[in-house]
Amino acid sequence: FCNRLRHVESMSLQPSGAGRISHLNAVILGEPLESEENDLVFPSQEFSSQALVSSPEQYRNMYEKSIEDPAGFWSEIASQFYWKEKWNPEVYTENIDVRKGTVKFEWFKGGRTNISYNALDRNIEAGNGGKVAIYWEGNDLGDDGRLTYAELLEKVCQLANYLKHVGVRKGDAVIIYLPMLTELPIAMLACARIGAVHSVVFAGFSSESLSQRIIDCKPKAVITCNAVRRGSKPIHLKEIVDSALRESVKNGVTVDLCLTFENKSAMRREDTKWQDGRDVWWQDVVPLFPTKCDVEWVDAEDPLFLLYTSGSTGKPKGVLHTTGGYMVYTATTFKYAFDYKPSDVYWCTADCGWITGHSYVTYGPLLNSATIVVFEGFILLIQCEQFIQAPNYPDAGRCWNIVDKYKVTIFYTAPTLVRSLMREGDAYVTRYQRKSLRVLGSVGEPINPSAWRWFYNVVGDSRCPISDTWWQTETGGFMITPLPGAWPQKPGSATFPFFGVQPVIVDEKGNEIEGECSGYLCIKNSWPGAFRTLYGDHERYETTYFKPFAGYYFTGDGCSRDKDGYIWLTGRVDDVINVSGHRIGTAEVESALVSHPQCAEAAVVGVDHEIKGQGIYAFVTLVEGVPYSEELRKSLISVVRNQIGAFAAPDKIHWAPGLPKTRSGKIMRRILRKIASRQLNELGDTSTLADPSVVEQLISLGDC
Ligand code: PRX
Repeated sequence: FCNRLRHVESMSLQPSGAGRISHLNAVILGEPLESEENDLVFPSQEFSSQALVSSPEQYRNMYEKSIEDPAGFWSEIASQFYWKEKWNPEVYTENIDVRKGTVKFEWFKGGRTNISYNALDRNIEAGNGGKVAIYWEGNDLGDDGRLTYAELLEKVCQLANYLKHVGVRKGDAVIIYLPMLTELPIAMLACARIGAVHSVVFAGFSSESLSQRIIDCKPKAVITCNAVRRGSKPIHLKEIVDSALRESVKNGVTVDLCLTFENKSAMRREDTKWQDGRDVWWQDVVPLFPTKCDVEWVDAEDPLFLLYTSGSTGKPKGVLHTTGGYMVYTATTFKYAFDYKPSDVYWCTADCGWITGHSYVTYGPLLNSATIVVFEGFILLIQCEQFIQAPNYPDAGRCWNIVDKYKVTIFYTAPTLVRSLMREGDAYVTRYQRKSLRVLGSVGEPINPSAWRWFYNVVGDSRCPISDTWWQTETGGFMITPLPGAWPQKPGSATFPFFGVQPVIVDEKGNEIEGECSGYLCIKNSWPGAFRTLYGDHERYETTYFKPFAGYYFTGDGCSRDKDGYIWLTGRVDDVINVSGHRIGTAEVESALVSHPQCAEAAVVGVDHEIKGQGIYAFVTLVEGVPYSEELRKSLISVVRNQIGAFAAPDKIHWAPGLPKTRSGKIMRRILRKIASRQLNELGDTSTLADPSVVEQLISLGDC
């Protein structure tokens, strides 16, 4: 208690910056906290004293510098990387205000660098060649491997040389459709080395989703593997690619090369369907190429990757990230938010098919020469309809078995996984030591306080701070996050902005609101890791993100700020559902459902789900005369699985003779959300509906 008291006292610093950075808060400005002490979870003094940022005051100084002099702040950090040529005198240029012209961010323009070089060669030159870069853990116990930085570089170079040999050039797109094998980060780093633009497609996406992405970015090559295994059952990834490529050809996009890794533990090459001339076995060609490969020096603003994400319309958005700013930002956020030390062993459970796997499995950690753990297990669970199950093979203790095996010190995961493990009981956790753990992390959705406390108390033995990192595919890296040694946490709050980030809360009219309040979360300025455009559609970029509240980047999230200035994310305010930390646009699911010949209309809403955070709830109107049946329900679900992927399958189908619509024909989702969550007393005004009796019908039918 005395220690904690000392902390509270030490946090009552004199406000030196008050008024200058108005949206900051009590902790940061050094005013005493108003919260009860038992709402706060303090880092231990032992942790704080060794932390990179160990006090609010230190954070405040750095934060103020980052806001008052972004160019100075970020160029000092950027200088720690290798640049073949230095950037232009102006470190960044920005126009975030759509009223003043085209929205444009540029960081370190004119600088020539390479992120793959910085993640590998630079670390090796600094003496880390023998350090383990990747521990790979297969789904089966005992199936594992490791690569040092020197070995990883050799493998990256061989693939890079091969890709160059087959004509992949700077600026060409390459689609990567692989499970979590080491070949996945290798492929990303190889593309980056030669200036090719990778677009990783999560290997749980269906062939239709894959072909949509192929058609959009017209890749020079697709990199995949023949299969992944779940138990004894192989999932034929290559066949999914084959069918996506056939579909692409019909749409005028032909891909000449399908480089296929033979995943021997899942399937023999003899059993793999093959198209001569187009398909090439990775193992037959890549190892023949030299283990050294010249780097393609690219401009800081040259594209690094494209990653498709769901929006509120049916068509996925190709979020484009460039090289220099993204490199500096992911490395810096990783270092501070996890209080990274060279002796750490870091495990992020995300798949490289999502942004978390880009920024915080691959680039952020490797740029810091960290040792990372890559675990194969997740994709398998997702593809076999057990998405909400924890990595429970062979049992629910697998995560902690891996933590003990590799002496993991930083463990970064999603609330959905925490909740599903929590359900299995403490014994699966406590039978492992977990002594190596020192920092925990959470991402993807708001973490409910009870899951936070279980994660903190049971997994972290009440001694590991939790970094609840709020960010997005678009932001490239953490935006609002605890710095684990710097201030007390509140379970469920992402706390305060990272260096250089100015979050504001606005009301419906776009006015900034101060103090204790709720509203829409926007960002006021550019930051190095920001996405630069939506591929091929800058207009949609501006319309979606910069027009709703002119003068700001609109995140699509709602949030509130409490009396101490802590920020609490409350979820999406657009038509995007967050299922187990994965964004799914309601429009995408609806368009899949209505493609079913017996579905006349569909409306999809998110509904609270104990494990997944949000579940997918679909109201479906059938074609006149078609009777409801269990068979039809299954067939509707399978349409979504086939068109998007298993993870997007609706949890509930609610038969709807009609949908509540305004007189102008707009579906009133507000009412559907209330019906889905059985908040029938809160339906609100239904008198503006074209046919108010529809609501009664829906309620009486219930869900199936
Ligand atoms: O709603 C927010 C939620 O996830 C969205 C971004 O999803 P995506 O681009 O797929 O990236 C996920 C991984 C960064 C956000 O708009 N979200 C992400 N992290 C948090 C969160 N919501 C609350 N707390 C978080 N820590």
